[in-house]
Amino acid sequence: MSDAPKLSKIEHLKEGSRQLRGTIAEQLSDGTDLFSDDNANLLKHHGTYLQDDRDDRKAKNADGTKKGKSYIMMVRTRIPGGRVTAEQFLAELDLCEKYGNGTLRVTTRQGFQLHGVLKANLKATIKAINDTHLTTLAACGDVERNVMSCPAPLNGDPVRNEMHSLAYALAEHLKPRTTAYYEIWLRDENGEETNACEFQPVDEPIYGRYDLPRKFKTGIALPEDNCIDIYSNDLGLLAIHENGKIIGYNVLVGGGMGRTPSAEKTFPAIAKRMAFITPEQAIGVSEAVVKVQRDFGNREDRKIARLKYLIHNWGIEKFKAKVEEYYGHSLPEPHPADVTDVDDHMGWHDQGDGKWFLGINVECGRIKDEGDFRLKTALRTLLETYRMPARLTALQGVLLCDIAQEQRVEIDSLLRRHGVKAAEELTPTRRYAIACPAFPTCGLSITESERVLPEVVDRVEVELAKLGLLKERISIHMTGCPNGCARPYTPDIGFVGKAVGKYTIFLGGNAEGTRLGFIYKDSVPYDDLVAVLAPVFSLYKSKRTTGESFGDFCVRIGVEALNAHADQALQPA
Ligand code: HEM
Ligand code: SF4
Repeated sequence: MSDAPKLSKIEHLKEGSRQLRGTIAEQLSDGTDLFSDDNANLLKHHGTYLQDDRDDRKAKNADGTKKGKSYIMMVRTRIPGGRVTAEQFLAELDLCEKYGNGTLRVTTRQGFQLHGVLKANLKATIKAINDTHLTTLAACGDVERNVMSCPAPLNGDPVRNEMHSLAYALAEHLKPRTTAYYEIWLRDENGEETNACEFQPVDEPIYGRYDLPRKFKTGIALPEDNCIDIYSNDLGLLAIHENGKIIGYNVLVGGGMGRTPSAEKTFPAIAKRMAFITPEQAIGVSEAVVKVQRDFGNREDRKIARLKYLIHNWGIEKFKAKVEEYYGHSLPEPHPADVTDVDDHMGWHDQGDGKWFLGINVECGRIKDEGDFRLKTALRTLLETYRMPARLTALQGVLLCDIAQEQRVEIDSLLRRHGVKAAEELTPTRRYAIACPAFPTCGLSITESERVLPEVVDRVEVELAKLGLLKERISIHMTGCPNGCARPYTPDIGFVGKAVGKYTIFLGGNAEGTRLGFIYKDSVPYDDLVAVLAPVFSLYKSKRTTGESFGDFCVRIGVEALNAHADQALQPA
């Protein structure tokens, strides 16, 4: 009997897909509104997911018969460091109106997402994104995804500029070389038909025959500003700088959020500190980390295929030794510097080059017009008028950049006229709250997330106001299932969909993203979420030490004492 691992179905699919072609091109024009399962899986590598509108699942036709699923596509754009030009931003706004559901989403990893695109419009949508020199290639799939980097446009700051350059260089270096993407989406209507017999594979120096065992995420942050949540990434590069110069990066490996409660072998993890490298080594060492995961990551069971499981099984020393072997040099221990703070970059800031940038909080990442709230129109007007570049933050915000001092008053007043609040009018809790999309688009969601988070924050604010705690930065992340797309295991409070209408509440993380929370209560009905937290808030008010954050307090008191206190407080009188 052979000891060769029994590859998972997806591994066979990838290998036999003629470098991610499958029969996508053929199915695109077959007149149906969906793709086969195999093609849907391959399509993720092209940056798009087959979904169905879950609100429609119960819908009926006029004659009372079931309507059946309404298939739609999600299209994700990969944007290293979240940097876009006015033209690129406007093109995405146009696309959400022309082909999407009229809203544009800023994702939790500095990307844009369109929802509700019909299959018939998929090619036109992806082509239009590429026409603006952005891409959806490798926005999803078992490859290096979007490389994140602190987006603050502090142009007088050479450190952030160098981080941005590295994000681009890494994204370029680690992108798949397959030509399938260009053949399928970018050839114009007169292009020659793909002929399977003529297919010639190109060399994939990083990904080889199968791509990676699972998705791979990279982020670049600063110790004093971990706005991209570096510890939740497979690979993190923490820029250590002195006198305005990056002297090197601490390499962090093996972060990842997803967990399956029924499978004990799965767990969320924050990355481990592995080494300190020079800026010149950054690309080579990153490639070595990716290749070690490519060659040793689990390809039998996708539930335990992320890098965090390899590092858990091997231990960090063995993993580091293997990376050194692949890289060809030994690597020194990490620099003592570590993450100390986080900035959401909201409000007005001096860029350091005579211009200003404005951070606008986008609730749950959804750019839309709804009643008197007309953020989408406001952004469109500002981008069309001033043609400023913009950046996307990992807390689902937008930074409008390169604004002249004299333009500020008009910009503020236009936003106000469109019902968009200034950062100073929002509590820190609202500014630091993020949610995954969940219903109605995500096929994996168990509970609501994006659609209910604003109401949850309203209720939290009521409790905090009673206690005079509204100025505290208590971060909340919410997801509709344990996969954790909005990183719910690292903030002060995490709400994670567990069963229909019920959530697991995590406490004890922090806004800086350096610690995992613990389960405080499980299977809490939506309507009770804030009621079960209220006693903890009041205990925090009375027992906190000076300046102690909510997450630090929860860790100090411990889950048992918190539970005992809450249970007592919640007893009927
Ligand atoms: C096994 C785990 C995971 C699965 C199966 C999964 C699947 C999905 C799906 C289906 C969507 C599309 C939802 C929609 O837009 O309708 C999505 C969105 C997204 N996921 Fe995941 N996901 C997983 C874990 C994660 C993790 C751990 C992160 C990052 C920490 C992440 C980051 C994202 C981002 C940035 C989006 C875009 C939507 C947004 O939040 O703005 N995912 N994911
Ligand atoms: S966390 Fe779950 S529900 Fe939310 S987008 Fe990710 S997979 Fe969907």
